[in-house]
Amino acid sequence: MPVQDKFGRPLRDLRISVTDRCNFRCSYCMPKEVFGRNYAFLPKTELLTFEEITRLARVFAALGVRKIRLTGGEPLLRRDIEVLVAMLAEIPDIELTMTTNGAALAEKAQALKDAGLKRITVSLDALDDTTFKAMNEVDFPVARVLEGIEAAHAAGLTPVKINMVVKRGVNEGEILPMARYFHGSGHILRFIEYMDVGASNGWRMDDVVPAKEIVETIHAEMPIEPLDPNYRGEVAQRWRFKDGGGEIGVIASVTQPFCGDCTRLRLSAKGELYTCLFGISGYDLRAPLRSGSDDDALAEAIRNLWQGRQDRYSELRTSATANLPKVEMSYIGG
Ligand code: GTP
Ligand code: 5AD
Ligand code: SF4
Ligand code: SF4
Repeated sequence: MPVQDKFGRPLRDLRISVTDRCNFRCSYCMPKEVFGRNYAFLPKTELLTFEEITRLARVFAALGVRKIRLTGGEPLLRRDIEVLVAMLAEIPDIELTMTTNGAALAEKAQALKDAGLKRITVSLDALDDTTFKAMNEVDFPVARVLEGIEAAHAAGLTPVKINMVVKRGVNEGEILPMARYFHGSGHILRFIEYMDVGASNGWRMDDVVPAKEIVETIHAEMPIEPLDPNYRGEVAQRWRFKDGGGEIGVIASVTQPFCGDCTRLRLSAKGELYTCLFGISGYDLRAPLRSGSDDDALAEAIRNLWQGRQDRYSELRTSATANLPKVEMSYIGG
């Protein structure tokens, strides 16, 4: 029986940030004005080692976790990440996935698959190079990310999911080009409402394009119909093209919050647990881990944390909560 929180939500899904570094500066996540050249990222000694991460992952699996997603920052920037993947892949009954910006995916896809990764999600906010650059502040063409997506598909990290964060007036013009491009590709494109995560992206409700509007825009040109969720608590609402061109998703975490089914726990790169994406502080697991606590003691600490959890930030969001000092998404992962 998996451990349950105060609202009866089981702990099912663990997201592990393996680094707080990223080679992108997405305006919705690591705006360059805040994460500039002199920004102090964590030194290597602060990061959990692969052995520490794997030990914790086994404790989580024993508590009922069934899915582990590796995130960052950018997880492919963590040196020898495929070694960690291989270590985690040995834990039974776990679906092992990763979210990446795709910059290094063309080179890494096969090694990740060989190490035991099951699926991959790639962030891509535009097909047009100018819009892509304006949003993500990178110096290479979209084609490089597209190559990464194809390499992941060819390696069998399928279905490849594509995450597009939509910002009003910035990339909403890319909704239809992206839908046309991925129609019939076998990949699943997901449109995400821009969220007020962290405290540095200057979020305003006016910048959010509601999922309903995204669905209507696509439906007007390429008719779609809703699909049932794959599992309880799936964040994306699923749709399929009526002409057989495959599936898309919308993640409406601002206009239609899904806290009632939230089974996700996040582990930061230096070993803090966050029971909500919008948490202010984390629970330090690294100290007990490094001071000799045994697995039972670690499990007890995690169980207590989860049982006391009452998070439902997205359901309580107001323009005032948007300004609270919350943890950055680049720090605890998407
Ligand atoms: P799969 O179903 O395994 O593909 O995973 P997923 O749909 O959870 O995918 P992913 O982890 O890529 O999440 C997609 C996006 O949904 C994230 O990048 C966030 O923008 C948003 N999201 C995910 N989890 C949460 C959450 O717990 N709370 C909120 N508010 N948003 C979330
Ligand atoms: N709003 C919505 N999604 C975000 N992500 C990062 N910041 C935000 C935000 N402000 C998500 C994107 C990206 C993943 C790594 O994190 O989906 O694909
Ligand atoms: Fe980097 Fe991903 Fe954040 Fe973009 S969303 S800055 S790629 S961690
Ligand atoms: Fe879960 Fe917090 Fe997101 Fe709600 S806002 S779905 S409680 S992570």
